[in-house]
Amino acid sequence: MLVGKRIVLGVTGGIAAYKAVELCRRLVDAGAHVIPVMTEGAERFVGRATLSALASEPVQTSLWDEVDPIPHTRLGRSADLIVVAPATARLLSAYANGLSTDLLTNILLATRAPVVVCPAMHTEMWEHPAVRANVAALASRGVHIVEPESGRLAGGDIGTGRLAATESIVAAITAALAAGAASTAGELSGTHVVVSAGGTREPIDAVRVIANRSSGKQGYALAAEAALRGARVTLVSTVELPSPAGSEVRAVETAAEMLDALAELAPKADVVIMAAAVADFRPTTVAPGKLKKATGMPEIVLERTPDILAGLGANKPPTQVLVGFAAETSDLVANATSKLQAKNLDLIVANDVSAPGVGFQHETNAVTLLCADGSTIGVGLTDKKAVAKVVMDTVVKILMTKPRQ
Ligand code: C5P
Repeated sequence: MLVGKRIVLGVTGGIAAYKAVELCRRLVDAGAHVIPVMTEGAERFVGRATLSALASEPVQTSLWDEVDPIPHTRLGRSADLIVVAPATARLLSAYANGLSTDLLTNILLATRAPVVVCPAMHTEMWEHPAVRANVAALASRGVHIVEPESGRLAGGDIGTGRLAATESIVAAITAALAAGAASTAGELSGTHVVVSAGGTREPIDAVRVIANRSSGKQGYALAAEAALRGARVTLVSTVELPSPAGSEVRAVETAAEMLDALAELAPKADVVIMAAAVADFRPTTVAPGKLKKATGMPEIVLERTPDILAGLGANKPPTQVLVGFAAETSDLVANATSKLQAKNLDLIVANDVSAPGVGFQHETNAVTLLCADGSTIGVGLTDKKAVAKVVMDTVVKILMTKPRQ
């Protein structure tokens, strides 16, 4: 359950902060990718170096990072889960009241991932009506609370308030991840989702091709997300990335091969997502051998490739959700809207590929989703897995408006 999961570990300023070091270690050992976020108070109890060395990830402490101008939304959106251990009374109060004063509280407000909060404080504080009310408010909003244990506290007092045992926190994290997965798990069961991914390569001669910079990562993330939600997934791909669990991969290279694969698969599919960067032009003829320098400058005449997506749109079954991508360098919304309409799509995912960190070859993306009903959803710079989640959430909603097959 924890393997490959991105877990933000929030550490606040209580004496139990030293136990966050052990928790970090246990999560990393279980295969999680831990991103430690410390408050100013936490830094008085444990050193940054300890947590960053264990997590192999720099500790984040500030909202004002020059390299990453919006760390809270990036970390909040890309996390699979956020755990705060220990959580002080101050953190509980800020979170319960929506107060965003530092990086950790901003992340908590910016996330939709499950949150596990592990309070630790003196018994009198834990029993104070204000703290009880804050804990109750958080629990009622679906925050998982790992109650403190009874035992020896700082200064030698004995009572309730000691941070829960590391095993109990790890068990709560695992349970919260399982519950999150279960809530979307069966959403697409019984459906067939076809995703195209990667850039096509159009041969010039026996060794050369016209290619583009698409890495295929966004398409693979979409396929993985659809499979997680129970769909049967076919990935029509030009790239060799590890195939996502639960997907069948069809390898293609050219626009013509991609067209053939989709012509076969799309008519019966419930969802078709054209995330591939299909070449718009290809050489009219392919030289049989390798073009030689000695023969002089070759003249390469280009012709249009078939617009696969437009063809799918023209023949779209009424039950199907058809999704296109629009990589633009200007007039993002206007260009994407006209493609949405011209190609008879249900949804277009538009990205401004001239912006830093967006689109081709990056691990991250920032997109605007434009739906046929006129609604739009903006997703700021985040990793491609998080974009895939938002796209699949939207696909599921549109699918529910379609007649059943
Ligand atoms: O019109 P434009 O090429 O910008 O539209 C992009 C969308 O169309 C993407 O979803 C891409 O996969 C698809 N496309 C296609 N066939 C082409 C070119 C693009 O299916 N020849």
